[in-house]
Amino acid sequence: MQRPSILVTGASGALGSLVVRALGDGTARVIPGSRTPAPDDGRRIDFDDPASLRVGFAGIDRLLLVSTDELAVPGKREQQHRAAIEAAHRAGIGYVAYTSMPNPATSPAIFFAADHVATERMLAESRIPTGILRNGWYQENLLAYLPHIIADGSWFTAAGAGRIPHVAREDAARAAASLLQSAEPGIFDIAGPHPLTIEEIATAVETVLGRALRVVQVDSVRLAVELARQGVAASMIPMVVATEQNQHAGRFEIGPETTRRLIGRAPRPLHDFLRNYAEALLALVR
Ligand SMILES: NC(=O)c1ccc[n+]([C@@H]2O[C@H](COP(=O)([O-])OP(=O)(O)OC[C@H]3O[C@@H](n4cnc5c(N)ncnc54)[C@H](OP(=O)(O)O)[C@@H]3O)[C@@H](O)[C@H]2O)c1
Repeated sequence: MQRPSILVTGASGALGSLVVRALGDGTARVIPGSRTPAPDDGRRIDFDDPASLRVGFAGIDRLLLVSTDELAVPGKREQQHRAAIEAAHRAGIGYVAYTSMPNPATSPAIFFAADHVATERMLAESRIPTGILRNGWYQENLLAYLPHIIADGSWFTAAGAGRIPHVAREDAARAAASLLQSAEPGIFDIAGPHPLTIEEIATAVETVLGRALRVVQVDSVRLAVELARQGVAASMIPMVVATEQNQHAGRFEIGPETTRRLIGRAPRPLHDFLRNYAEALLALVR
C-alpha cells in the first residue's frame, strides 16, 4: 500500500499529539482526529457523536484509537470505544491500534481495567486486524504526586516489593507510531527499561535530585490517608492506591523487549526522566 492514511484519535491529548509528531516522516498521510481539531488540518472525532465518526473515518486505512479519559461515569468509556470500533468497521478501516494497559484481565485493583478488557474483546470480535498497545504507566504520572512526597520526605507505599517499569510517554508514542506504520497485529507490552520497586525509585530520586526519601511500607488505607495529608489531589489518590495494589500483586512486572523492538532503541530510563524534569519537579516541591 502506498502512503496509507492514518487517523489518530485524541490528537490534542498528551499521547495523541506525540504520536502524530512521531508519524510525521512522510511515509504515511497522518490525520489528527480530535473533538477540537486544528482549523487547517485534522478531522473532528468525538466518540459521543456518531456523525463525526461517519464523516471522520471515511477513507482511512489505519486508526489509532486512543482510550478516552472518561473515567467518572461507569460504562461510559466502554460505550465510547464501542461506537468507535463499530464506526471503524463500517468505514472499512483495515487496521486498528488501541491503547490498553498491562495485564488488564488480571488487574482487578485497577478500577478502569474492565474498560480495557471489554474494548480488547470488542476489537477481537470486530475481526479488524488489531494491535493492542498495553501501555505501562507513564513516567510523567509521577509529576502529579512525587513533588508532595519529596516535600514530605517520606514515601508511604503499599507496593511492598512489587515493581513497576514506568515508561516515557514519548516512547509509548513512538511505539504506537511504529505499530501504525507496520500494521502488525498482536498484543504489545509497552514498558520502560527496568521494573523498579518504590525503594529503587526513591534511591533514583535521591541520586538525581539530591533529596533523601524515607520509604515506609503501609497498607492501602493508610496510604490514602498519607497522600491526602501530603496534599496530593483528591482525584489522584484512588489512582495511586490502585496502582500500588496492582504493583504489589506483581501485575506491572513487564520487560522492555517489545518496546525496544518497536522503537528501535532501549526505552528511556527513569533516571533520564528525573534529570529532564528535575527543575519542574523541584519547583513543585513546596
Ligand atoms: N498509561 C498511563 O500512564 C496513562 C496515563 C494517563 C492516561 N492514560 C490513558 O491513555 C489515554 C491517553 O493518555 P494521555 O496522557 O494523552 O491523556 P490526555 O492528554 O488526558 O488525553 C485524553 C484523551 O481522551 C480523548 N477523548 C476524551 N473524550 C473523547 C471523546 N468523547 N471522543 C474521542 N476522544 C476523546 C481526548 O481527545 P481530544 O481532546 O483530542 O478530543 C484526549 O486525547 C488517556 O485518555 C487514558 O485512557 C494512560
